[in-house]
Amino acid sequence: MTPRTPSILVINGPNLNLLGTREPDVYGTATLDDVVRLASDTARGRGCTVDALQSNHEGGIIDAIHAARSTADGIVINAGAYTHTSIAIRDALAGVGLPVVEVHISNVHRREPFRHHSYISGVADAVIVGAGIDGYRLAVDHLAGRLTAAIPDAAQAPES
Ligand code: DQA
Repeated sequence: MTPRTPSILVINGPNLNLLGTREPDVYGTATLDDVVRLASDTARGRGCTVDALQSNHEGGIIDAIHAARSTADGIVINAGAYTHTSIAIRDALAGVGLPVVEVHISNVHRREPFRHHSYISGVADAVIVGAGIDGYRLAVDHLAGRLTAAIPDAAQAPES
């Protein structure tokens, strides 16, 4: 039987397309392409694949989460400012029932009080904040470990 390769959907929300130029003192100088490359390389090293999506629209993110039911085995999400406002994204994540890791590049708990509450954390299996873009590597690595353990016959070796 051909081993099945677990697939991870990496979702980035509003304004994260501006990474690299947006408030570099807060978010650093790495770009969204750098983030996607880091996530993909990490997944490959763990025998998984990554699909990446960035959207500035709440509905686009919700549609992607719904679609993940049939295309992905787990989700890494940085919902940007929707983290602090969107019950709808939280409900979408709860509704599809996939494992979720929440990522924030900055340490939201050291910032303005309105960033201290996340609607996502209550439906996430793990939360990584303040590690810069390395948070995406940590998130994919963690999720890949869970998925390859959980999916029978999942690919264990890195893909060439
Ligand atoms: C962020 C933190 C959010 O508060 C902010 O709105 C973002 C980015 C982060 O990655 O640190 O857009 O999610």
